[in-house]
Amino acid sequence: MSDEWDDYADDWNDNEGVIIYANHTYETLRAEVDLEGLKILDFGCGTGNLTEKMAPKANHITAIDSSAKMISILKNKNIKNVKALQLELREGDISNQFDLITASSVFGFVPNFVDTLILLKGLLKTGGILVQWDWLDTGQDDFGFSPDQLKSAYNKAGFKAVKISQPFSLTKSEGEKKVVMVIASL
Ligand SMILES: C[S@@+](CC[C@H](N)C(=O)[O-])C[C@H]1O[C@@H](n2cnc3c(N)ncnc32)[C@H](O)[C@@H]1O
Repeated sequence: MSDEWDDYADDWNDNEGVIIYANHTYETLRAEVDLEGLKILDFGCGTGNLTEKMAPKANHITAIDSSAKMISILKNKNIKNVKALQLELREGDISNQFDLITASSVFGFVPNFVDTLILLKGLLKTGGILVQWDWLDTGQDDFGFSPDQLKSAYNKAGFKAVKISQPFSLTKSEGEKKVVMVIASL
């Protein structure tokens, strides 16, 4: 399958901005969730910069991405408790249930955010949580999500508890960009 993200794959893993972003996502995740022994789905995993940080504590991680190149780079890392799959999530693709689903910088690229949340909700065990990080929409560009937009989407998808925070920001050429984090459960 051709995927525009394939073009970014070769430079993604060692890109300084990507590494810094993954360091922050992992630290903010660890501050909220005990990863010990969890079964995790890393949705839109890219080359697995977050996946590989979670792996030592996790029981098992299924890491999925629509880009074949991103997935092949992750597979080459040979992490023993990580199963990397190239797929664009559709109903029935995955039969496992997860304690934790992570989605770092991916929901801005899916065709339908609410439908994707509904699909992922169906893959959570009772008591499981979904954690999202994305750029905060500040109204200055077309990128990111506002807290209201996030609340509305998670409510429509049927999540009951939704905690939204702005745990870190990164300095980009266009200035300081805030990241929004969502922790959602059923
Ligand atoms: C900005 S990158 C983030 C990658 C990784 N999560 C990270 O933080 O380094 C977005 C990733 O989402 C993947 N992606 C986009 N749409 C997708 C979809 N519908 N299903 C699975 N992966 C998708 C892309 O292939 C790309 O690797």
